[in-house]
Amino acid sequence: MNKRNLPPVPPEIQALVPYKPGKPIEELERELGISGAIKLASNENPLGPSPKAVAAMAQALEGLHRYPDGAGFELRQALAGRYGLAQEQIVLGNGSNEIIELLCRAFLRPGDLALAASPSFLMYSKLVQVAGGQLKEVPLSDFRLDLNALAQAIEPRTRLVFVNNPDNPAGTAFSAEEFKAFLDQVPDGVIVVLDEAYIEFASDPQVAQGTDFLEHQVPVVVMRTFSKAYGLAGLRVGFGLGPVEVMDILHRVRQPFNTSILAQAAGTAALADEEFFNKTMELTWQGLKDFYACFESLGLTYVPSQANFVLVKIGPKASQVADGLLRRGVIVRKMASYGLPEFLRVSVGLPQENRRFMDELKAILEEG
Ligand SMILES: Cc1ncc(COP(=O)(O)O)c(C=O)c1O
Repeated sequence: MNKRNLPPVPPEIQALVPYKPGKPIEELERELGISGAIKLASNENPLGPSPKAVAAMAQALEGLHRYPDGAGFELRQALAGRYGLAQEQIVLGNGSNEIIELLCRAFLRPGDLALAASPSFLMYSKLVQVAGGQLKEVPLSDFRLDLNALAQAIEPRTRLVFVNNPDNPAGTAFSAEEFKAFLDQVPDGVIVVLDEAYIEFASDPQVAQGTDFLEHQVPVVVMRTFSKAYGLAGLRVGFGLGPVEVMDILHRVRQPFNTSILAQAAGTAALADEEFFNKTMELTWQGLKDFYACFESLGLTYVPSQANFVLVKIGPKASQVADGLLRRGVIVRKMASYGLPEFLRVSVGLPQENRRFMDELKAILEEG
C-alpha cells in the first residue's frame, strides 16, 4: 500500500469510464478454450496490412535506433501531393484518435462545449471530458446525422462540432450539398471536425468529401486514418487536414515524435498501394451486399451502409444473439453502449468469415 495520499483527482477524470474496444480474438479463444475465432467487431481491414506498407516497414527497421522525423516530411509530402495541399495544412497523429485529442487539448477549456451526434464514436465524449469540456449531443434522425439540429444546437461556448461521415455506428453519410448548407449556418469561433475514418468506403458519389471544404470560411479539420482502408489499425497512424492556423496550433500541442518511423514509412507506402486499396473496396462492397441479402432472407432490418460495417436490428434478444455468436467463435459488436440495445454492428470480413457469421446467425435465430 502507498503511504501517501494521491493528489486530488479532478472529478471529470474520476468520472471517466475506460473505452471498451471489441473483444480481441485471443481473449475469446482463451476464455472459451477454442481456436479459429473470427472478429467482425472493430471495422478492421480483413485482408491484413497493405503489403507495400509491410515491405516499407521491413526496410525501415534498420533505422529504429534513431528518433523519427518529427515533421513526418515524407508522409506529409505524399499526403500533400495526394490532396493538393501544402504540408502546413497537414498534421500526423498516433491514429486519428490523437487528432481528436489534440483538438480537445488545444481548443477546450473547462466549461467549454463540444457538440456531436448521439450515438456516435465514443472517443469524442471521452476526450472532451479529459479536457474538462462538456459534450452536448444531438440525436441521430432516422440513423442519419441531423445537420440542421446540430447547427441549431451551437451555443456561444461551443468550440468544436464533431461530424462523422460516414457515421459510426450508423454507417450513413451526408452529401456535399447537405454539408455546405450546414457549414453556412456555423457561426464564428467554432471549428468543425469532420471525422472521415470510413470515407474511402463510401460508394455513393454524392457523399461529401471533406477535402472539398478546406477552403470554406468556416474552419474545417478533416480527420482520416490508415487504420481502415489501408489495413494499419495496429500501427496507429492517422492525420488531420485543415487551415494552416489550426494545424499550427496542433503542431505546438503534439508530442515531437508522435508517429513512429514505422508508421511514417508504412503510411507513405500504403498510400501508393492502389492494388491493395482497390481489393479492399471490392471486398467490402461485395461483403455488404452479401450481408444485406442474408438479413433480408432472415426478415431482419438493417441500415444501408457507406462504411465497412453494417447495423442490423435483431430485436430484444440482440445481446443474447451476440453471446451465442461469441460461443461459436464469432465476435460482433453489441450496441447497448451506443444506446441501440436491439442492434448489432458487424464489420465486413473475408468472404469465408462473412459466410460463417451468416450461417451462425441463421442457426441461432432458428433455434429461437
Ligand atoms: C468514427 C471513428 N473515428 C475515428 C476512429 C479512430 O481511428 P484511428 O485512431 O485508428 O485512426 C475510429 C476507429 O474505429 C472511428 O470509428
